[in-house]
Amino acid sequence: MGIDRVRWGIVATGNISTSFTKDLGVLDDAVVTAIASRSQDSADRFGEQFGIEHRFDDYRRLIESGTVDVLYIGTPHPQHYGIARAALQAGIAVLCEKPVTLTARQARDLIAVANEHKTLFAEAMWMRTNPVVQAMFADLAKGTIGAPMQALADFGFHRPKFAPRLLDRELGGGILMDGGIYPMTFAYMALGRPEEIKAVGSLNEDGVDLSVAMAWRYASGAVAGLTCGLRSHHPFNASVSGPDGSLLLPGGFHHPEYYIRQTVSGEERVDVPMHGAGYHYEAAEVMRSLRAGEVECPALPHAATIEILELLDETRRQIGVSYPGDDEYLGG
Ligand SMILES: NC(=O)c1ccc[n+]([C@@H]2O[C@H](COP(=O)([O-])OP(=O)(O)OC[C@H]3O[C@@H](n4cnc5c(N)ncnc54)[C@H](OP(=O)(O)O)[C@@H]3O)[C@@H](O)[C@H]2O)c1
Repeated sequence: MGIDRVRWGIVATGNISTSFTKDLGVLDDAVVTAIASRSQDSADRFGEQFGIEHRFDDYRRLIESGTVDVLYIGTPHPQHYGIARAALQAGIAVLCEKPVTLTARQARDLIAVANEHKTLFAEAMWMRTNPVVQAMFADLAKGTIGAPMQALADFGFHRPKFAPRLLDRELGGGILMDGGIYPMTFAYMALGRPEEIKAVGSLNEDGVDLSVAMAWRYASGAVAGLTCGLRSHHPFNASVSGPDGSLLLPGGFHHPEYYIRQTVSGEERVDVPMHGAGYHYEAAEVMRSLRAGEVECPALPHAATIEILELLDETRRQIGVSYPGDDEYLGG
């Protein structure tokens, strides 16, 4: 596709849309041409902040406007499915925040629609495109620590006042879907899909998960221990270990500044050049795929999106978390 500057449309004016749009400014070949919000005031404010030409008070009107090549979706999770589906059906590429849908069934449907319309669809799992994370996994693939046998990762924070969506079942609240997806993705990247998973969770009176612990077992004998929580501040560490040592992503493992290699020869800090907040890396991958005419971005693979959602489905079943939007299905 001969696109000089890729035209981005942003859906929703919340926290992550703001961080993502700021970071898009790092890319000379990207331009944000449209913003949509549920309210014209928010769209106008966001539009002023980032110098965006087209401002809509309705997500669908942006999709129908013909002003963008690719849509970034930053609404709460339950809204992702319908918006992403409408965009893909209109032939607009989609980069959608994680988790892309509430269920694996919905994600499979989006990917089928993307394939049917030959339109790029990617999950904004920005950890996968982070240069430090990529360097650490390249090190693992080289065999530096031998065959990985254990992964550990945690993600959790406590705030006196949480963003309302985090504790709202209607909005896909709970730490598993929002934060637990990162430790799960780390273990999946390190060890692949587990044979067996066990999970326990503490829920509040509304049935929203506040703390979750997961144990995964692999055919190779490898295991993973993963936690996430809203009642404690976690170190946000992730590590993968094998017979010859460990690779560790310290504090903020989903957007780390460096990694640590521990082997029999000692411990070494490995720095990798990084700039921006880290969201522009996923955007650049999406733009490369768009120009190459790909339906799937190799750095943000469809199979991983679906398999992680299958693991989330099963984890939620085990801990007893369900959402009003779980049954939504727009496929044939
Ligand atoms: N990749 C990351 O680092 C990262 C970080 C945080 C969150 N996320 C993901 O991004 C998504 C949004 O998270 P966020 O923290 O940005 O949330 P947020 O600050 O609450 O913003 C969500 C936005 O979605 C829109 N929206 C549409 N329907 C809504 C509804 N019924 N209730 C509330 N807002 C609604 C609103 O924008 P308008 O009013 O403009 O329509 C709102 O500002 C989630 O899926 C989350 O998992 C990713």
